[in-house]
Amino acid sequence: MATVYTVPKLTDYSPASFETATRDLLSALESESSAIHGDTDWKIFRDRWMARKDGMVTQINDLWLKAAPKEAKREAGQRVNELKGKIAASVESVRQRIQGGRTASRLTSDSVDITLPGVRRPVGVEHPVIRTRNELVSVFRNLGYSVSEGPEIESDYYNFEALNFPPNHPARDTQDTLFIAGQDKKPPRERLLLRTHTSPVQIRTMERLKPPLRIVIPGKVYRNDPPDASHSPMFHQIEGLAVDTNITFGDLKGTLDHAMKAMFGSNVKTQFRPSFFPFTEPSAEMMVSCFICGGGGKRGAEPCRPCKTTGWIEILGCGMVDPNVFEFVKHNGYDPKKVSGFAFGMGIDRVAILKYGVDDIQLFFQGDVRFLQQFA
Ligand code: PHE
Repeated sequence: MATVYTVPKLTDYSPASFETATRDLLSALESESSAIHGDTDWKIFRDRWMARKDGMVTQINDLWLKAAPKEAKREAGQRVNELKGKIAASVESVRQRIQGGRTASRLTSDSVDITLPGVRRPVGVEHPVIRTRNELVSVFRNLGYSVSEGPEIESDYYNFEALNFPPNHPARDTQDTLFIAGQDKKPPRERLLLRTHTSPVQIRTMERLKPPLRIVIPGKVYRNDPPDASHSPMFHQIEGLAVDTNITFGDLKGTLDHAMKAMFGSNVKTQFRPSFFPFTEPSAEMMVSCFICGGGGKRGAEPCRPCKTTGWIEILGCGMVDPNVFEFVKHNGYDPKKVSGFAFGMGIDRVAILKYGVDDIQLFFQGDVRFLQQFA
């Protein structure tokens, strides 16, 4: 077994004994350095030779230089200095061999093969509901309407009270409306809920902007409906509001008739049937002639499902803004004696269902790429 090199004491300080001692030390340095293969080895090697406390360099300094008699000091100093240089150079060259090699192999393994094709990210498309929303918004933009938005978490005041809902109106019931929990201590009008329609933004906008006003309000709304093919607890509406002096029901009809033709084609007809909403008077529901069957109620020999063979599809609720609603924003220029207006609200998802022939509203919200890809 090879013995571990130790620095000997010099018996005399003659050139001959220096030669021998130097030869032994350098051959130990040589054989130890060539046996180093990793970082850990190298650190042990470095410390054995270079450590200030008891390393080989320190030892030759103590044993070969400090211990030398006066007359041999000069010679010893030169020899020891030369050895220190060789030891330091050897330690450094081993470090380069070890760590330099590591860097090179890491560069090889981490390198990018620029000749490989890249990872393709398919370009997305608008979700059918968003696309329908954008189409509807642009129809009204072209008529000079601006876009307004409001919060999805709304107070009873904006969602119901200022829209002329009487205090015990059934829409306020938890059967229909999703309320935020833990608000029993608040006065009723401040209680928070998920807005059940986009109509509260009518009030919010009229508080902010003076008449004349022409706005559309797209957004998410929420109702306590269990999900099925035609219902979702979250869905989308687009609201419209026009206020000015002398706005009439004729303006409402002309505007909405134009919008439906722009949306579904110039052949569609519209029809208004009496209805009721607390915030419009008179109120109507608008029907469009079925753009699936063309109004005939049949597709070939088959009954037309979207219009239930009636040839008409109910598309939105509308009416003239109730003077009681203007009373809530009278302070901002909406004196019901001076201004009038119309409003409407439409389900965006329902329009998208009809437009794209989708048979289940849930498909819009499940994020299944196989469904969504069909709209690419
Ligand atoms: N907010 C009503 C709804 O959600 C729709 C509507 C809007 C009716 C504006 C009239 C005027 O059913």
